[in-house]
Parts: sequence; C-alpha cells; structure tokens
Amino acid sequence: MIIAVDGPAASGKGTIARALARHYGLPHLDTGLLYRAVAATVRAMHLDPTREADAVAACSFDDSLLADPVLRDDETGKLASVVSVHPLVRAALLQRQKRFANQPGGAILDGRDIGTVIAPDADAKLFVKASPQVRARRRHNELAANGSDVSFEQVLADIRARDERDSGRATAPLTQAADAAALDTSSLTIEAAVARAIQFVDAQVAARQH
Ligand code: CDP
Ligand code: CDP
Repeated sequence: MIIAVDGPAASGKGTIARALARHYGLPHLDTGLLYRAVAATVRAMHLDPTREADAVAACSFDDSLLADPVLRDDETGKLASVVSVHPLVRAALLQRQKRFANQPGGAILDGRDIGTVIAPDADAKLFVKASPQVRARRRHNELAANGSDVSFEQVLADIRARDERDSGRATAPLTQAADAAALDTSSLTIEAAVARAIQFVDAQVAARQH
C-alpha cells in the first residue's frame, strides 16, 4: 500500500503521516527534509539558492545531514522553498523518493507533489489543508515554544510567501491531485484529524478493491 500525503506548510500533514505510518505499520518519508537538506547545504557552501547550478551542486548532501536539527529551523524551510523551484533539483531528488514509495510492502510519503508526481498511482491520497491564519498560529506557537520572539504577523507573511512560491512554480507545484481526499484540519484536534485521515484512507483502499 502506498499512501500519499500532501499539503502546505503547517497544515498538519507531517503529524498525520507519522500517525498513519504507525497505524498501518508502513515506513514513512518526510520528503520536505530532502529539500531542507539541499537548502542547508547551499547555505553551508555559501552558494546562491536562486541559481539552479548552485542548488544542483548541493543535492549530493551526505545522508547523515537528514538527522541534523538545523534542517528543522524556519530559515531552512524558507530556503527549501527557494531551491525547490529548480527543475534540476527536483529531478535530482526524484528517483530516491520513487524508490522509497515503491519498496516492497508499501510506504507513506508526505510533501507537496507526492500524489501528483512521486506516486501518481498511490492507493490512497490525502490533501491536508488549513487556513493561513490557523497554520501561522501553529507555527508561531512552535517558534515561541523554542524561544523565538518572532511576531504572529511575520509568521503569517512567511506562510503566505511560501504558499505562493510552492503553488506558483512551474515544475510540480503544490496542488491537490484530482483523486485526493481533502482534509481541512483548521478546526480539528490532532486526534480528530488522524481519525478522519484513517477513514479516508480505508475508504479509498476499499473503493480501489471494487
Ligand atoms: O508537516 P506540516 O508542516 O504540514 O505540519 P505539522 O508539523 O504536522 O504540524 C504543524 C503544527 O501544528 C504542529 O505543532 C502540530 O502539533 C500542530 N497541529 C495541530 O495543532 N492540529 C492539527 N490538527 C495538526 C497539527
Ligand atoms: O514542514 P513544512 O510544511 O513547513 O515544510 P517541508 O514539508 O519541510 O518543505 C519545505 C519546502 O520544501 C516546501 O516549502 C517546498 O518548497 C519544498 N518541498 C517540495 O517542493 N516538494 C516536496 N515534496 C516537499 C517539500
């Protein structure tokens, strides 16, 4: 079974994907981490993230970087959405994601283009969303808990800028696949969102068996 989970920043897709992975006993790949690793490498090598050749040079990062806490910070997320617009960067990360998706026994991946590009034949697809205000509130809470004093307005502006870059790019933009179930988590607790996600996945898998 392959499960594709897509959605914008702080929609709750990572939380839902991890819970689904536990529920169905599937290996999980947070594909955003790959783009974050490219971004962190661009920064470490003092490259220009807007130049495609520079960003491509940063794609041969060492896998040990994927566990580095620096990937989790907000600056890295922002920079990831800058390097991810380059078609050659997306191409460099494609096979690795496809291999993960198609491993024997199945997998669950979350990102922006899983249901559309990485695993278009997935058995179940979710498009997780929430209003920009709710997503900014969540991100702001996370940042405040980590000691940041960034304002809510700044976080909201960053979320909107990232949405625009991710949805507006020419290659593999963030968009809901035609056969994905939309899950709006704006007014759902994590528990309720996960329960709904399991219902959607079970229903899609059952429908494919008929
Ligand atoms: O992976 P993505 O950026 O889409 O979001 P996430 O990391 O799963 O969730 C972002 C934040 O929202 C986390 O702090 C979650 O605990 C929180 N969250 C929530 O408050 N309510 C939900 N229904 C889902 C996530
Ligand atoms: O956790 P959050 O949703 O904030 O971000 P992420 O999933 O870690 O992704 C960081 C950035 O990587 C996104 O803003 C996208 O620009 C890019 N990305 C992508 O282009 N395609 C994916 N499958 C996953 C991430």
